[in-house]
Amino acid sequence: REFNVAVVGATGAVGRMMIRVLEERNFPVKNLRLFASERSRGLKLPFRGEEIPVEVLSETRSFSGIDIALFSAGGSRSLEYAPRFAADGAVVVDNSSAWRMDPEVPLVVPEVNPHAVAGYKNKGIIANPNCSTIQMVVPLKPLHDYGRIKRIVVATYQAVSGAGQKAIEELSAQTRAWCAGEELPPAQVIAHQIAFNCVPHIDVFLENAYTREEMKMVNETRKIMEDDSIRVTATCVRVPVFYGHAEAVNLETERKITPEKARELLSNFPGVVVRDDPENRVYPLQIEVAGRDEVFVGRIREDESVECGLNLWIVADNLRKGAATNAVQIAEILAREYL
Ligand code: A2P
Repeated sequence: REFNVAVVGATGAVGRMMIRVLEERNFPVKNLRLFASERSRGLKLPFRGEEIPVEVLSETRSFSGIDIALFSAGGSRSLEYAPRFAADGAVVVDNSSAWRMDPEVPLVVPEVNPHAVAGYKNKGIIANPNCSTIQMVVPLKPLHDYGRIKRIVVATYQAVSGAGQKAIEELSAQTRAWCAGEELPPAQVIAHQIAFNCVPHIDVFLENAYTREEMKMVNETRKIMEDDSIRVTATCVRVPVFYGHAEAVNLETERKITPEKARELLSNFPGVVVRDDPENRVYPLQIEVAGRDEVFVGRIREDESVECGLNLWIVADNLRKGAATNAVQIAEILAREYL
């Protein structure tokens, strides 16, 4: 069976990748509809050799006939339009943070909690987790099943593409100006100059002095792993990288996991690639994993400061596994098992 699919926010960094991943994975698309803002009026985007016109979301009266809608147009669009698409019969897979912590909305990473997809029946909405959370929970799942993770301490090194198309242009423009010896254009999307700099500020600051990005990693990890006892603390940092997030992750487990055991568990887990041969300078790098759909793990070593601790370096393409690929994988489960 084939499905009528919509991409909402089709012109954005994630939306364009969603279209590409649908094509690459041969998703059974009957008809594809694309939506964006009035700024994209008249634009056409390629899909399977055809040029598909972009429709203006706010001018569309009915969304009937759509089976699956992939949303990545920001939280306020998701809050307003996801229920409207659902009322018109679609199942929405939403990449924004708007619905993620709603107890009636499943938050799904297919390698970790595919069974949760069934919860789409509540509201017709499934939430796609935060990019940094997705790439962390995939390799942590087999480690948790084996040794029970008690606590996670993570610091992220996140690419500008996670902040959207304008942030990609911001890093380019600042870098070009710096190389030309010109004055840098002012920071607009990112809080400070991002060229040749790291900025420990992603999303907004909350009352507890953490950023919302950091608290997403805390709360979403527990929901996806279905274990509220896991303690998580995060520091999220924007770095001058275009594509790919990296994470330094420290784990404390109940049962000892040796680095050898961790490598074995990770190598056998779907969606994970172990790249861990430091003698030969082999470890995951953002520039090398960009364009890949798997999560890469290296620098696997014992945390010698505690009884049962492990350190990992986890890298993935934030627009792919961190966003578009994960959303399309959820759609594949819907198509295969539910619709
Ligand atoms: P547009 O390109 O027309 O502004 P990014 O995260 O890369 O900035 O992308 C955001 C996506 O969300 C874009 O596709 C953008 O469309 C879309 N978008 C933003 N605001 C609206 C809106 N009010 N209605 C529909 N789509 C929107």
